[in-house]
Amino acid sequence: MMFASIRLATNLDREDIRGVYLRAFPEGENQLVATLAANLLSEETDPETIALVAEISGDVVGHIAFSPVMADTNNNWLGYILAPLCVIPEHHKVGIGSELVESGIELISKKMADVVFVYGDPKYYGKFGFSAEAATQFMPPYELKYPFGWQARVLHEGGSDDQARKLSCVLSLRDPALW
Ligand SMILES: CC(C)(COP(=O)(O)OP(=O)(O)OC[C@H]1O[C@@H](n2cnc3c(N)ncnc32)[C@H](O)[C@@H]1OP(=O)(O)O)[C@@H](O)C(=O)NCCC(=O)NCCS
Repeated sequence: MMFASIRLATNLDREDIRGVYLRAFPEGENQLVATLAANLLSEETDPETIALVAEISGDVVGHIAFSPVMADTNNNWLGYILAPLCVIPEHHKVGIGSELVESGIELISKKMADVVFVYGDPKYYGKFGFSAEAATQFMPPYELKYPFGWQARVLHEGGSDDQARKLSCVLSLRDPALW
């Protein structure tokens, strides 16, 4: 069932996107993640950083972003990280978060991403096929406050091997406070 319409975000959505993070995340954390979401809109990466918004009656009620991560040992490998994600509290638990995650993964899968990462609650992300096990060979760019939240989902098996890899991320995510 469709609960909201999902479309690519643009720079014109910046303030609406900031607004959903300020409302959906607890105080103390919300400014940091709102700034992250806003900054990601300006990332000019190759391959591109992607942001989607969920709208109901023309109002932005949710947002998700995916930015590329690079591996130090393999130029033919493409990873993305899902961060951040939020839906405003009034519209929780009707599937909007799931729509954003699934639409985004479909898009990056078409871009031939090999693996998508997330740093978040395994109870939420497990239902989308993310697991800590799939992430074990990949070292996040910064030391994690919550190592159990580091997860991955393999999208295309071809690019993978068993070599350990240290990941680097886009500029907006290069803040140890986010990890
Ligand atoms: C997490 C979030 C995006 C989910 O959005 P949503 O639109 O409510 O998600 P869905 O409707 O697709 O799924 C809701 C289900 O996920 C569950 N869920 C939400 N957050 C969860 C969490 N942290 N851990 C486990 N389950 C969670 C809900 O209880 C609900 O379960 P149900 O379907 O059995 O009732 C939303 O709660 C949110 O924005 N939270 C605040 C910000 C946040 O934590 N973002 C994620 C950062 S990692």
